[in-house]
Amino acid sequence: MQLKIYKDYPELSANVADEIISLIKRKPDAVICLASGDTPRLTCQVFAERAIKEKIDTSKFTFIGLDEWVGISPVNEGSCRYFFETLLIKPLNLSGSQVHLFDALSKNLSEECRKMDKAISEKGGIDLMIVGIGMNGHIGFNEPGVSFDNYAHVTDLDEITITVGQKYFKGSAELKQGITLGLKHLMNSKKAIVIANAAKKAPVIKKAIEGTVSDLFPATIIQQHANGCVMIDEEAASLLNK
Ligand code: F6R
Repeated sequence: MQLKIYKDYPELSANVADEIISLIKRKPDAVICLASGDTPRLTCQVFAERAIKEKIDTSKFTFIGLDEWVGISPVNEGSCRYFFETLLIKPLNLSGSQVHLFDALSKNLSEECRKMDKAISEKGGIDLMIVGIGMNGHIGFNEPGVSFDNYAHVTDLDEITITVGQKYFKGSAELKQGITLGLKHLMNSKKAIVIANAAKKAPVIKKAIEGTVSDLFPATIIQQHANGCVMIDEEAASLLNK
């Protein structure tokens, strides 16, 4: 596992965006999965801005959304879909056929999981997966206690996820379950990057990188990825052993 530490959030975001741009330049039909949330927000903005400015062909890559809040409408500003629509799909004019997002309002969520697993396997797997880390060590909605062998699945949300997740919503949101890619997708991806910024993430980054690998702290799995990388800013790195 590689560790890369950047001065601050803008520098981190520029470098993570560069990972996406370089991959698309090298492999225009790459399969790329991103998390939503505060950490990748600037990465998405920089990626879209650079792609437009540098006239990069973004019409051939496949975009996979990592997860979604079950029962939350796509027009709700706190939904993962809204995040991707606003920051990537609209600015880059991505077509419906190149984008795969969970429909968290579906009556058949198992079918949503099956469709996502199938889409990923038909595309030959994920080339690059960029994920954040939750305050409980989750990746996507792979909550503490999750099986490392899971592909897409629906899960009850951890109390910490429910509490912290309120930050994305105007007013209080009823968050109970999530639908998410599994850690098997992460481990099977050709490259996996965990990103984090700010001092509040320092304790979870320390545990993820220096702790014992355990399903009780799912992000520790990155230590076992053959091509895993942790990209963080100095604040998030501040508690790491020197
Ligand atoms: C969101 C997701 C979550 C977040 C994590 C960190 O799609 O998958 O696992 O990546 O909760 O969230 P932020 O970046 O808001 O601190």
